[in-house]
Amino acid sequence: MPPSAPASEQLPTRAAAVWAALDPLVGAGSALRVLDVGGGSGVFAVPLARLGHEVTVVDPSADALATLARRAGTAGVGERVHGVQGDGDLLHEVVPDAGGFDLALCHSVLEVVDDPATTLGEIARSLTAGGTASVAVANRAGAVLARAVGGHPTDALALFEGPGPGGARSRRRFTPADLLDLVTGAGLTAGSWRGISVVADLLDVVGADAAADADPAAVRRLELALAGTSPYRDVAGGLHVLATRP
Ligand SMILES: C[S@@+](CC[C@H](N)C(=O)[O-])C[C@H]1O[C@@H](n2cnc3c(N)ncnc32)[C@H](O)[C@@H]1O
Repeated sequence: MPPSAPASEQLPTRAAAVWAALDPLVGAGSALRVLDVGGGSGVFAVPLARLGHEVTVVDPSADALATLARRAGTAGVGERVHGVQGDGDLLHEVVPDAGGFDLALCHSVLEVVDDPATTLGEIARSLTAGGTASVAVANRAGAVLARAVGGHPTDALALFEGPGPGGARSRRRFTPADLLDLVTGAGLTAGSWRGISVVADLLDVVGADAAADADPAAVRRLELALAGTSPYRDVAGGLHVLATRP
């Protein structure tokens, strides 16, 4: 493994809590086989490959996979990043190696797949015994408050009472209980959930000046301090949990 900064020190700040949770796994010194479902253009995959891990990204978007290949090549890790065009609900069709992965990421994807339970079941099946799934989703409470504070009370109320202003076509949002039910329903053992982007999302809502004035290192420290603590984590932009396959 090449020497590297801890993953939690890598950008973006919005994902600081996720990187911090992953650090003990991905910074432990051994090369992992990582599956990144809906990994898109490689926001996580490329830094993980730079840490020495072998990363397979499954994503239906040919454009995202082309960007992924470009970014991985530029970062000098093209040989450790494998893009596969496919669907999270049908992982077994494109990643037949059941039980072949030490770590599977599923970040900001359960919002858009046809069936989150099926996708998590496929992810659980892809993990080796003792392997870990890292699951991040949009937080319903955070989304309601962001709309309210952003001056969109009607949208906030629609999201509080139901799927959102777009009705059934709205992007899915989750409560902590939804997330834990999905993860345990897939046969995984969940750790404690954390809030992602408690502070960065608030800064976005209050305006560009506040975001520009805030010291990024201080924002990161605050994110990490608040991520595991209620009531702050309850209103974060996203929710994150690590879960292991028994
Ligand atoms: C918001 S992006 C998240 C990208 C990345 N996981 C991250 O955290 O930066 C959502 C990604 O999910 C992908 N996606 C959409 N439908 C999917 C599906 N059915 N299975 C897997 N990925 C899907 C999209 O192409 C996109 O790359």
